[in-house]
Amino acid sequence: MDRVHDLERIRQDTPLFSRYIYLDAAAAAPPPWPVVEAMTTYLKHLAEWGPYLPRFRAETYDRVEEIRRKVAEFIGAAPEEIAFTRNGTEGINLVAEGLPWREGDEIVLLDIEFHSNYVPWLRLAKEKGVRLRVIKTPQDGLVTPDMVVAAVNPRTRLVTLTHVSNALGTVQPVAEIGAALKKEHPEVLYLINASQSLGLLPLQVQRLHCDFLTAPGRKWLRGPEGSGLLYVRREWIESLRPPLVGWGGTEWLASDDEFRYAATAKRFQAGLPDIPAILGLGAALEYAQQLDIQWIANRVRHLTDYGYELLQQIPGVTVLGPRLSRDRIGMIPFTVQGLAPRRVVAALEEEGVIVEAGSFMAHVALTKHGVQEVVRISPHYYNTEADLEQAARLLADLIRKEERR
Ligand SMILES: Cc1ncc(COP(=O)(O)O)c(C=O)c1O
Repeated sequence: MDRVHDLERIRQDTPLFSRYIYLDAAAAAPPPWPVVEAMTTYLKHLAEWGPYLPRFRAETYDRVEEIRRKVAEFIGAAPEEIAFTRNGTEGINLVAEGLPWREGDEIVLLDIEFHSNYVPWLRLAKEKGVRLRVIKTPQDGLVTPDMVVAAVNPRTRLVTLTHVSNALGTVQPVAEIGAALKKEHPEVLYLINASQSLGLLPLQVQRLHCDFLTAPGRKWLRGPEGSGLLYVRREWIESLRPPLVGWGGTEWLASDDEFRYAATAKRFQAGLPDIPAILGLGAALEYAQQLDIQWIANRVRHLTDYGYELLQQIPGVTVLGPRLSRDRIGMIPFTVQGLAPRRVVAALEEEGVIVEAGSFMAHVALTKHGVQEVVRISPHYYNTEADLEQAARLLADLIRKEERR
């Protein structure tokens, strides 16, 4: 391993790894030290210099715009197409609330969606007469381009999908779906919820053929809580009405008592942006770029496969999600016969291994497997094979102890 990919060095950037085995990146991954430093340095300067020392303020805003350029470059977009948001949910809502819907318009989405990519559309259905066309997915949640294209009809305005399922780890073929969709129905808008793929898989909006993409920074990118991004393809910016206005994204033409929205995606940023979070996001992005996104994807896929195999060998454990390695990444969801998922989490926590249990706000995805809750192991590149072996060993011990009771 070269110096950049020296795992010891990578692990030293995050103090918690000397105390815990952290296997919950899908909820939020711990920020590496440069992210913490970017934020704390800024906060210290606020106290030492004051937020509005002119030179400091100008430098801060320059850096925010530099980060916008870097975020854009990271996903193959233009800086004008990027808005900073607070999380993944906000971006989805900005699109849902911003588009001019007509009664009878249809939205195509999947039955296994996480709440945040279902409820905003459901609200439109309840309040604006928009119809939802929900694709019934197979047990592993995987859809094909044909399935998506078949759900589109002349009334369809938008198709939305989550790239990687937070409950099952299913990786949807979003680029192939986008290509097929735009070939057959170029007028239909395409939104990708990249909440579980930003910082994990290479994302290039042109190759994905998407019109909108939204994601938080705190998961695979290891940015801070309160950071996120929304990409809006240039040609749609002007047709989206921002739900919040004031200063920032809107100009008030006081003499005419008129106002104008910004011509860029800045129109979605009303008021003062969350500067500490954006600075942290920028540091996280630079950290990921240094490691290289393809290296990250390859390593997480390897660790996911490794953990998957280990768990499958434990009697009493059922691993869910797609069988093929190429169709899953980052999550190993499982149940244990006779043991409630939350008990497994508590037992592992006692031994310093952090995993998570729950419905993961993806009820339909789990109901397809006849369960309400699962345990989820979610490794990132900073984990080792030994971390997964330790989790598997503890799990096997717990099952054995339980059988003896
Ligand atoms: C698949 C998926 N979509 C959307 C979200 C929402 O992101 P946020 O919590 O940043 O609003 C999450 C977060 O857990 C998620 O896993």
